[in-house]
Amino acid sequence: VSGIKRIGILTGGGDCPGLNGVIRAVAKTAFYRYGLEVVGIQNGFGGLVRNEWWRLEDADVSGILHRGGTILGTTNRDNPFRFPVESRDGLPVFRDMSGEAMANLENMGVDALIVVGGDGSLSIALMFYEMGVPVVGIPKTIDNDLMATDITFGFDTALHTATDALDKLHTTAESHHRAMLLEVMGRNSGWIALHAGLAGGADVILIPEIPFTYENILAKIEERRSRGKKFSIMVVAEGAKNPAGEQVYREGGKQRRLGGIGEAVAAEIEKRSHMEARVTVLGHLQRGGTPSPFDRILATRFGVKAVEMLMEGEFGHMACLKTPLIQSIPIKDAVAEQKKVPPQGELVRFARSVGTSFGDT
Ligand code: F6P
Repeated sequence: VSGIKRIGILTGGGDCPGLNGVIRAVAKTAFYRYGLEVVGIQNGFGGLVRNEWWRLEDADVSGILHRGGTILGTTNRDNPFRFPVESRDGLPVFRDMSGEAMANLENMGVDALIVVGGDGSLSIALMFYEMGVPVVGIPKTIDNDLMATDITFGFDTALHTATDALDKLHTTAESHHRAMLLEVMGRNSGWIALHAGLAGGADVILIPEIPFTYENILAKIEERRSRGKKFSIMVVAEGAKNPAGEQVYREGGKQRRLGGIGEAVAAEIEKRSHMEARVTVLGHLQRGGTPSPFDRILATRFGVKAVEMLMEGEFGHMACLKTPLIQSIPIKDAVAEQKKVPPQGELVRFARSVGTSFGDT
């Protein structure tokens, strides 16, 4: 007997298609299989610091499987170990509020906590585990950049959106003989760009893991031209590095955010060729909308497994997919390093084999 009677769940980081599927699976498994109570912690780790929560009922988790976002208020990148408590001269003053968070967990009467998040939120979950909180993690991010799981939920939905965008861009590319660039998310990894590029038949894919030169991109455009193909479709990962080896960031805003490499590449193509280039930045369209069937199923599998892990006492662990099975691995292995696209890996090789250029040759 685990002794667990009441569990808490919180979602951290950016929103991600499938979050509600996880919450539903956790709550239903907890209610009906194990007879547990479930506390929904609102507004991510910030809500844990501020003691924002309510007891979930079946009605809260009914009819939410297909909905994007999270029913747990907002999700955000708050960190209790570095939490803004006041503002001095227009700048936030940070304090370690993990003690308050621990006291609130007591308050809620939860015996164990499920944290749904990417590497940031799971690193925070690990710190609470090291402070003695029985924690289980669930991997979430559209970027698919978490080690130790074959795939994170949210990635498949983002991929569908990006592929659909490429299919549509093909029409204009053909009709106008243009270079059409699609800038996709993915942070420091090129998973979305690589997969969408493969699915959408891109001529050029630029990812952070493979350095490119403009000469090579132009050579690809020329090679296509010589075969009578007067347009090119390119997918550019937001984290791809320009030939100087630098990532491109947006101006302004509170946080440094990746973005703008698509424009930079397009400008260079126009400067160095007679071709017109256009950029579409897909942005948050990749995180919104209804989750794909694959993500709903993966979210459900992770949610059920996480409750099973709590009941088995597998704390400090995260549910993961090791195809074909859902398994459990230490959170510390998942957050130790980001999962990158292997430049010599099968997918890159096969993409090259069907004529896709990565701008490196
Ligand atoms: O990690 C998910 C992600 O969508 C990244 O792909 C992207 O770089 C980042 O979040 C954008 O963050 P925000 O929503 O804070 O602009």
